[in-house]
Amino acid sequence: MSFWRIKPLDAILATAEKKSLHRSLGPVQLTLLGIGAVIGTGIFVLTAAAAQKAGPGMMISFIVAGAVCAVAALCYSELASMVPVAGSAYTYSYAVMGELMAWLVGWALILEYALGASAVAVGWSGHIVGFLDNVGIHLPHALTVGPPISLGFIHGGEVGGIINLPAVLITVFVTTLLIIGTKESATFNAVLVAIKIAALTLFIIITLPLATGHLHNFNPFTPRGWGNPLDGSGVGVLGAAASIFFAYVGFDAVSTAAEETKNPQRNVPIGLIASLLICTVFYLLVAGGVIGSFGAQPLIDPATGKYFADGSTALYGSAACTGQHAPLVCSHEALAYVLREVAPNPIFGNLIGLAATFALPSVVLLMMYGQTRVFFVMARDGLLPKGLSAVHTKFRTPWVITLVTGIFVAIAAAFLPVGSLADYSNAGTLFAFAAASAGVMILRFTDKNRPRPFKTPLLFIVAPLSIFGCLLLFFSLDKTSWMVFGTWAVIGLVFYFAYGFWNSNVRKGIIEVHEEDADLPPPPGTTD
Ligand code: ALA
Repeated sequence: MSFWRIKPLDAILATAEKKSLHRSLGPVQLTLLGIGAVIGTGIFVLTAAAAQKAGPGMMISFIVAGAVCAVAALCYSELASMVPVAGSAYTYSYAVMGELMAWLVGWALILEYALGASAVAVGWSGHIVGFLDNVGIHLPHALTVGPPISLGFIHGGEVGGIINLPAVLITVFVTTLLIIGTKESATFNAVLVAIKIAALTLFIIITLPLATGHLHNFNPFTPRGWGNPLDGSGVGVLGAAASIFFAYVGFDAVSTAAEETKNPQRNVPIGLIASLLICTVFYLLVAGGVIGSFGAQPLIDPATGKYFADGSTALYGSAACTGQHAPLVCSHEALAYVLREVAPNPIFGNLIGLAATFALPSVVLLMMYGQTRVFFVMARDGLLPKGLSAVHTKFRTPWVITLVTGIFVAIAAAFLPVGSLADYSNAGTLFAFAAASAGVMILRFTDKNRPRPFKTPLLFIVAPLSIFGCLLLFFSLDKTSWMVFGTWAVIGLVFYFAYGFWNSNVRKGIIEVHEEDADLPPPPGTTD
């Protein structure tokens, strides 16, 4: 069947070779690139959601999610080093598993990158609003959170909310930067990483010593159990791992920078593993500090005697959440909030809030950048309307696709709660990671002799583990996330058979080499 048609690797590589390769990144810069893309809303905000799902057991959730990312990252690296071109998992799948699978992966990546960007924008909003509030500038609640939503199977939001305006504004700002082609230099990225690491270190230094006096806060450790993948509840340690997985997403920034890297064979895996390892250690210490110093038990609805659903209208509207000294699970800026509550002076919490406010836009930028490049390549391959891949004559950026992405990201950020956005994003990411992990094994058979600058060690153990881990986390998400993913996939299939199938370049026998990529701005955080 023609939807199994593949795009030959040679054609993809010829495109890549047209790019003026400038190998400048070493292991330290790559690690910084990884940390810059990874630390964001996940740890600064979603710690609250993880607490509602798992309580103190979220510490194990952080380890599980980090481990799944580590094996997926090793698989990604082999593909990235073999096929160092834009479009990441989509491009790999096209060369390995054929057009239909590539389309589905590309379609899933829209969830990963675009909804991921929305989630980070909403996380940013929580911080700027909290910070301003604490320095005496009170924005109207209605304009800072999305409304209560009950749209088919999607529920959430807060009573009194109308639109999350700060999240929209930051999206507009980042979209503008991407359209005018603002480059984020490696140095600027390093400064942002330093700010984030300093903020997390400050948090740990203040909270961990407090934890030793409050060991009872760790008890019960797993109030909602381990979780049952398949029951659709999305709670327990595994449910929290599936959500907190978001805190690790972004490391693919390292693999997509493979072509700008000196000695990628050695440096790409160092960058990936080092950044994941450093983040995992920080996340664990931060989670320990949150639990020990303040407590992270999930909240029970007194009316029903059952736990509130995380991020639900009922949770945010509850007496506990609307009162003074609300529990962690009510906060939109978990770490800043905890520090304001437990530190000797609220200024420390404000500093964390300020650090997140300053650093999170760069995570939005990276995710939106990833999205525009995937869209760009899909449109160039004829699977989306060609007009979308138009490159701006002055700025040399794919401006149409960037604008479309910006509108999509802004709408989702305006109306949906951060936890739901992160979960839907994770569903797409987990699917794409599983596909990439399968792809790397298939290529070992179908394209044995092609040079692999980086070879995944013990691939036939690592890749199945990665697929298993991704599926485990996917099914540990809640039912709504499965349904969002399923509905999205069906819409994608309809679109493919209505458009992409007929217009695909490969179908028409056009296998051209594209030179316009060469002029597009490089990934953020990679230039000198
Ligand atoms: N890992 C990134 C974050 O947590 C996407 O914001």
